[in-house]
Order: sequence, then structure tokens, then C-alpha cells
Amino acid sequence: MYKIPRGTRDFSPEEMEKRRYVEKCMRSIFKTFGYREIQTPMFETLEIFTAKSGDAIIDEIYSFSDKGGRNLALRPELTAPVMRFYVDKMQMESKPLKLFYFGNCFRYDRPQKGRYREFKQAGCELIGTDTPEAHAELIAMAYTILEKVGLKNIKLNIGNLKVLSSMFDMLNLPKDKQKYLVPLIDKSKFAEVLIALQDFGVKKGDADDFLEILQTSDIKKISRYLKLDETSQKEISNLEKIVDFLENSFNVKNYKIKMSIVRGLDYYKGIVFEIEAPILGAEKQLCGGGTYELIQLFGGRESPTVGFAIGFDRTIIALETEEYQFPLPKIEVYVIPVNDDMMSKALEIVQKLREQKISTDLDLLKRGMGKNMKYASSINAEKVIIIGPKELEHDSITVRDMKSGDQKLVKINDFLLINQKV
Ligand code: HAM
Repeated sequence: MYKIPRGTRDFSPEEMEKRRYVEKCMRSIFKTFGYREIQTPMFETLEIFTAKSGDAIIDEIYSFSDKGGRNLALRPELTAPVMRFYVDKMQMESKPLKLFYFGNCFRYDRPQKGRYREFKQAGCELIGTDTPEAHAELIAMAYTILEKVGLKNIKLNIGNLKVLSSMFDMLNLPKDKQKYLVPLIDKSKFAEVLIALQDFGVKKGDADDFLEILQTSDIKKISRYLKLDETSQKEISNLEKIVDFLENSFNVKNYKIKMSIVRGLDYYKGIVFEIEAPILGAEKQLCGGGTYELIQLFGGRESPTVGFAIGFDRTIIALETEEYQFPLPKIEVYVIPVNDDMMSKALEIVQKLREQKISTDLDLLKRGMGKNMKYASSINAEKVIIIGPKELEHDSITVRDMKSGDQKLVKINDFLLINQKV
């Protein structure tokens, strides 16, 4: 017996029903916000992922050489591939370009619940605008998608990497020390940040102030702290506009400003955000995104870019944990011919129903009535029709409503007419 590779999953018909349902819902929301769907390959040249992050990323991804000796990688995410696609073929398109995608990603992660080596993302990239309203609309879309698929408890956190960088500069922290602090800040290990800051020679009072600003949600306080820094003031003023649009125009009120958001990927620059489902515990991050810079690195003409990706699998787990009632897979009609002589009539009826786009199945195992009824229940059939010689003498069939248990004799033509879909 062969085993499934570590960190990958098979999906049963029931699971696929849930996944397709959620995907359909997400896709329709992307479209209502004016986004258009694209697709890129599962594997890319390795370079598009190492260009920004360096070779260190190779340890975290699936990379290989093909038979022609090309260095390739299974995509760990889709932002770099979409930028590659944009620079290659879409630079001339009118702006802003609103693109969305669904795609499987591959990371050489340590697998656990909610963390896989193959997982699916639903994401988008917005190219050509960086106004506060554009950013607010994008963040609101991420929030709306997760809310509309049915999640009850999600939390949005918004930060800004340029502001964080100015905060580091205020403490005169060189890049290597910042690099040491970033993972601690990412994991909210603030006690350890304090110890490290003092080790780096930062005065206790300054370190306390820094930590307070990292943890406050009060924009005015952050602004006062960075009052002398011009870049930060511009970013903070934009942030104020964004949250005003979020609250008052997009009706997203459940958010926090959090300068401790650092994001794992190397291409982010200004505004960054994350949405989490606290119910998930360790792997609670459902969505991550922000502004980033890749176009010039990929040889294109500079244009502002922002985007996000939602972890599709984690969204499903969060819905399940919140006991969301997914619609069950069902079949509208299940047909039982009582003997072989009834088969051609049964197939004729099946064919007519399917032509009317009614999902229809029939007994392919020549089972007895009891077993057939059990099977019909197991596939969640709404109606069962029984085709027997007596019924056929009157051009009729027996129709059983599986929910109520009611059973009646119905003329075949009447049944086909009643079930006609418009
Ligand atoms: P990311 O934060 O690396 O961002 O991934 C986005 C989401 O994918 C995460 O919030 C998480 O829900 C899900 N995810 C990540 N790794 C795994 C895993 N091993 N198993 C299951 N789910 C996972 C990006 O990928 C950026 N490209 C997002 C973006 C788009 N930024 C700008 N545009």
C-alpha cells in the first residue's frame, strides 16, 4: 500500500463539496469588487522566488532541476508569479489592474493542523494605484470575503512597515539587530524584545516607549511618537484615511492598528495587514497581505502594487470549527428499475432528466429495494423513482419524496414536466 506524501491531503466528495461551495462564494465576491481571474503555472523558474529573498528561501520550498537542467520551483505563493506574468504580458493594460486567483502552493513547512506542504490560496493583486481608498477597498474585500463565506469571529490587524522601520531608526538600531528583533516582534514576544533592546544598549525608558507604540492601537499616540519623522507622518496620515474609509464607507469596524505586524515575505514595504480566526489557535492566520515592490526587480516599469492571499484550507477548518452548516451534497433524483426489463425505460427517463440539468443517478448494481433505498439516503437523494411493470402499464412511475416519505403514482410525462428547470 502506498502512502500519501507528508503534508498533503486527499479530499473526499463531501470535502470537495464544501471546498467548491466556499470557492464559488469567494469568486463571486472578488467579481463584485471588479476583480478578474487569472491563472499561472504550478511551477516557475526558481529565480523569481530567490530574486528578492535570496537563496535562503530554497530551504523552505520545493525546488528541482528538470531534464533540461533548468532550475525550477513549485510555487510557494502567487504574488511573484503574478508579477512575472504582469511584467511579461500585462504592462500595457489600463490601470488599475484588478486580478484574482485560486491556486495550490507548496512549501517545505513542518506539517500540522492548518499547516501543509500543499495548500490552496485565494488571492488578489491590485496594480497601478496606492490611494487610501484603493487600500481600504482591498482590505475591505479581504474582510468581506471571510465574513460572507460564513465566519463569525475574525480579527483584522493593520500595520505599516515604513513606520516600523522609522521606529527602529529612532532607536538607532542597525539592520542586523533589526533582523534579530523582527521574528520576536512577529511572535509578540515583547518581554524578549525588551531584554534584547537593553542588550543592544537602548535605554530602559526608550525601550519601554518603543514597546508601548508596538502594542498600541491609538494612531494619534503613534503619530506623536514619530512626530519628527516625515515618512512616518505621511504613512500615518494615509492610515488614518484608510481606517476612516474602512469604518464609515465599508462598514468594517472590527480592526486594530498594530505596528508589530511584520509579515514573513521580503517584498513588503508600507501598509501590511493580517486577518486571523482566533478559534484556530496556533495556525490562526487566515489572510495576509500588503503593499510590496517586485515589478522593477522583474524588469518592469515601476507601478504601485498591493495584494493579499487567503489560506483556503484554514478558512474551511475555521468554518468547521465554528460548526458552520455547509449545504450537503445531494442528488435530485435516484432511479430504481425493479428488474432488467425496466432498464431501457429507466435509462430513457434518466436521460431526459439529465437533459433538463436535473442531477440524476440510477441503480447500477441491480440491488434489492431495501438496499437501494439505503443507498439513496446515503447519497442524499431528494426523490426516488421506482420503475416497475405495473406502473408502466399506466405510463406511470412511483415517486417517493425522501424527506417526507410520501409515495405516489405519477404519470411519467407529468413527472418530467414538474421537474423541468427553467
Ligand atoms: P502568506 O502570509 O505567506 O502571504 O500566505 C497567505 C496565507 O496562506 C496565510 O495567511 C495562511 O492562511 C496561508 N498559508 C500559508 N502557508 C500555509 C501552509 N503551509 N499551509 C496552509 N496554509 C498556509 C502570501 O503568500 C502573499 N503572497 C500574500 C500576498 C499577496 N501579498 C501580497 N499579495
